Amino acid sequence: MRAAPTLEAPFSGEVADAAEARALGPEYVAAAGKVIASHVRNELAGATVFDEPAIALAPSPKDKWLACRIAMEEYGHHLKFNKLAAELDLDDPRSRPALSVFDYELRSWPEFVVLKAVVDLAEVVLMEELRECSYLPLRRLAVKLLPEERFHVAFGRAASIELNADPANRPQLQEAVHDLVRFTLPFFGRSVSSNNDLFRRWGIKHRSNDEARAAFVARSRSFVVEELGLEYPEVSLRWEGVGG
Ligand SMILES: [Fe+2]
Ligand SMILES: [Fe+2]
Repeated sequence: MRAAPTLEAPFSGEVADAAEARALGPEYVAAAGKVIASHVRNELAGATVFDEPAIALAPSPKDKWLACRIAMEEYGHHLKFNKLAAELDLDDPRSRPALSVFDYELRSWPEFVVLKAVVDLAEVVLMEELRECSYLPLRRLAVKLLPEERFHVAFGRAASIELNADPANRPQLQEAVHDLVRFTLPFFGRSVSSNNDLFRRWGIKHRSNDEARAAFVARSRSFVVEELGLEYPEVSLRWEGVGG
């Protein structure tokens, strides 16, 4: 029998499909399943709370068209992650609530474009890591969806830079940066996380939550400070979480 993987000697194989995942045992299914389920929930929550309302806030037909496209893609991401959840016979991921940070009301189009530049960058950071994931269906899905997530970030950056050219917009953009950077930090999980240990032992992920959070902070800070000339909020790279 295979020795249980550890953080020092993680699982280094590749798992072709759900049948192989089940053959490795319930711990492997739980590890892949938890990452898939969080994407199922977050893609749906994001599409519902941000992308769909943005269509109504978009100021021009072209902006509405772009917002529709982005909303369509985000709902599509939800459906595609949900298909992986179904293949693994996971309990309906929507039976657990999305992160409480999704109790958020999108107020304006400038806030939406900053959201795409900042929050979707977190999704890019998380999906880039999944390109090395031991569960190949999840690896393939991340590779397939990354161009769309990168497009969302590129859209958000270009639109933020355009709005930022008018000094009258800067206070609103600055406020959005402050709110949305803080909003995003919990997505990487708690600093002390038995789930993250599980993911790394099984090669689902390779970085600690704090390492992924630090990568996001470095990349988002460089956009905010160097390209927008705005302030980046003071943030902790650690997150102890709330509750369980
Ligand atoms: Fe997405
Ligand atoms: Fe996105």
